[in-house]
Amino acid sequence: MSAEVPAPYGNGPAQPAATTPATGRKPAARIRTHHLQQAKEDGEHFAMLTAYEQYTAEIFDEAGIEVLLVGDSASNNVFGNETSLPVTVDELLPLCRAVARSAKRALVVADLPFGSYEVSAEQAVATGVRFLKEGLAHAVKIEGGKFYAGTVRAMVQAGIPVMAHIGFTPQSEHSLGGYRVQGRGDDAQRLIDDAVALADAGAFSVLMEMVPAATAAAVDAAISVPTVGIGAGNTTTGQVLVWQDMAGLRGGKMAKFVKQYADLRTSLSNAAKAYGDDVRTGQFPGPEHSF
Ligand code: KIV
Repeated sequence: MSAEVPAPYGNGPAQPAATTPATGRKPAARIRTHHLQQAKEDGEHFAMLTAYEQYTAEIFDEAGIEVLLVGDSASNNVFGNETSLPVTVDELLPLCRAVARSAKRALVVADLPFGSYEVSAEQAVATGVRFLKEGLAHAVKIEGGKFYAGTVRAMVQAGIPVMAHIGFTPQSEHSLGGYRVQGRGDDAQRLIDDAVALADAGAFSVLMEMVPAATAAAVDAAISVPTVGIGAGNTTTGQVLVWQDMAGLRGGKMAKFVKQYADLRTSLSNAAKAYGDDVRTGQFPGPEHSF
């Protein structure tokens, strides 16, 4: 059941209350970073999915997904690139705006694309401001370890909530030597040091990608802010997947950490074939579709 509650302030549209409060807490008009913090403190979990446009944002929001990520994975899931590297700020901003306009409850986090924050803290602040101002995002995510602690501090001071992304960082695919699990064995301490430095700098959350479950658990225990995992075991506060992987829209080989909850590729293909057949045989449009 969905109840209407007033907007928290201002003249914005009324926000629907949480229909399926995954956390069991009092429904929030809008998920905020402090709700994610509370989830960690209460030992609860939250769900995050990528979204890049209006309908998936609406559907995931109504399904109770707490965080929507306008990922730079749009590069290879929307724009047809091979990797996340080519996507630009100007390409991501309109997608972010569409998601933020469509999600009434979820916290919307935007990825800062490769090349838009590495040069300096000033560049990162300027790009972060664009995502909050023009993209209507509520927070941003940047990839990288403790080297970026100063950048995170500057962004947070400027009023930009930052999620840090460590472990396998797809924007560094070429320097990391391909898709490789990070933080195995002795390398675990590096990730713990990264997470501690980024959390100390003010990151509201630390996301870990392709990290052994034991390392992710150690990182989670070392910091007080919520963690998010993708291929990082089940001890993190949140989990994230690329929606086209989760819903089986993308074809080809899936990473080990993906669980598919639907087979949209087959459903859509069957629908397109049936439509094509109907058109070719003159069965569509029928009298009921004609004026
Ligand atoms: O862009 C993205 O989809 C991501 C996830 C893989 C975490 O950063």
